[in-house]
Amino acid sequence: MNYLNKEIVVIGLGYVGLPLAVKLAAHFKVIGYDISIDRIKELTDCNDSTKEIKKNILRKAKNLIFTCDKSMISNKCIYIITVPTPVKKNKLPDLSLLKNACKLVGKNIHKGAIIIFESTVYPGVTKNICAPIIAKESNFKLNEGFYLGYSPERINPGDNQHSLDKIIKVISGSNNKITKIIGKIYETIITAGVFYAKNIEVAETAKAIENAQRDINIAFVNEVSLLCQKLNISVYDVLNAAKTKWNFLPFQPGLVGGHCIGVDPYYLAHIAKKLNSSTDVILSGRRLNDSMTAIVFKEIEKQIRKDSRILQIGISFKENVPDIRNSKSAELAKLFLEKKYKIEIHDPVANPKEVQIDFGLTLSKLSGKYDYIIIAVAHNFIYRNNINILKYTKKSSTIFDITGKFKNKLSKNNIKYWSL
Ligand SMILES: NC(=O)c1ccc[n+]([C@@H]2O[C@H](COP(=O)([O-])OP(=O)(O)OC[C@H]3O[C@@H](n4cnc5c(N)ncnc54)[C@H](O)[C@@H]3O)[C@@H](O)[C@H]2O)c1
Repeated sequence: MNYLNKEIVVIGLGYVGLPLAVKLAAHFKVIGYDISIDRIKELTDCNDSTKEIKKNILRKAKNLIFTCDKSMISNKCIYIITVPTPVKKNKLPDLSLLKNACKLVGKNIHKGAIIIFESTVYPGVTKNICAPIIAKESNFKLNEGFYLGYSPERINPGDNQHSLDKIIKVISGSNNKITKIIGKIYETIITAGVFYAKNIEVAETAKAIENAQRDINIAFVNEVSLLCQKLNISVYDVLNAAKTKWNFLPFQPGLVGGHCIGVDPYYLAHIAKKLNSSTDVILSGRRLNDSMTAIVFKEIEKQIRKDSRILQIGISFKENVPDIRNSKSAELAKLFLEKKYKIEIHDPVANPKEVQIDFGLTLSKLSGKYDYIIIAVAHNFIYRNNINILKYTKKSSTIFDITGKFKNKLSKNNIKYWSL
């Protein structure tokens, strides 16, 4: 079969699936399938609420169809699965959406189809969990009636420098021939090139450790920042000095939310535990990063008055994205509200409706002067629109900059500046 002239079905059109579908549509006919009717409706109207793809690009994507109609994805030869892989309340992997996607694909594939997974998983999921579901639903055998690939997504939403095409794509497949075909498909869209991992488990593990490593490094710097507070020195001054050494890794302290860095280490820990392998480093980093919101809240609370007017800038889980999943800045705002502080939240990037539904929080416009300003997320709008934060301060206000991005950039008589 010549796979390079076949249609590609992308299952799950979120932060990962949509940019991928759009890029692929420049070379292939692409069907973008999502279970969310609302998502399909907005994409058909050329609106992307994740803000990753602009209207004019969606308008121009002629080879791309959006659908939630299962019959449209039946009997195809290439499927790429990009559905969420979150954790449950008890922090164990929640593979239910991935399993549903496997059932759907298994019921619909053409004989000889390749199913490529981009969702983040723990090592072994593709072969041991996904393959049996597809085999059962399709009545085909792996490497006879269908083939598998795993190619982890490494995009960084909100970052237009490291776009999909500029990040080397790790490729793996269920046999050598299929791996090469998968590589050829991705080579058409990835200008940075592809890297052939030894096998699917290697590619799965590589992705999971990339994010776990980042989590651990941030946890380390967070721990150092807490020590620096006790030493009465700035962690940023310490980092500026330390990073003059060629091999020092310049991570920054802060809140770790979202659905990747704060989630993927639990996937790794889960498989490690199953195999009776230690997870001390991974989980201790996770614990510290998870406790940072409460630590920051307590630190700020020590320095503020109850009857004051507080502004928090930023509610999404990181800068320049509307994504509020597992947002630590939302958690922070809720801590203030629970303790009856008068806090107003401003975030023109996040979707006010979603913020209300997910967290019960109402977003406000900037107005008047505040006793305290908490910069929780350093969205570009603060710089781009030249929002002069100082305009909103009183004579004796304090700015709590959790991001540290405005250190030495905000100066005015009597205004106090605090960072981790
Ligand atoms: N967002 C990131 O920064 C990022 C980066 C790298 C990897 N990842 C990984 O990629 C995967 C997808 O993440 P995301 O951020 O794009 O998720 P997302 O929530 O933005 O999008 C997922 C989409 O899949 C749809 N969906 C869920 N189940 C479905 C099903 N059975 N069939 C069809 N559609 C279905 C949802 O409606 C949603 O639109 C996750 O495993 C994530 O860990 C995410």
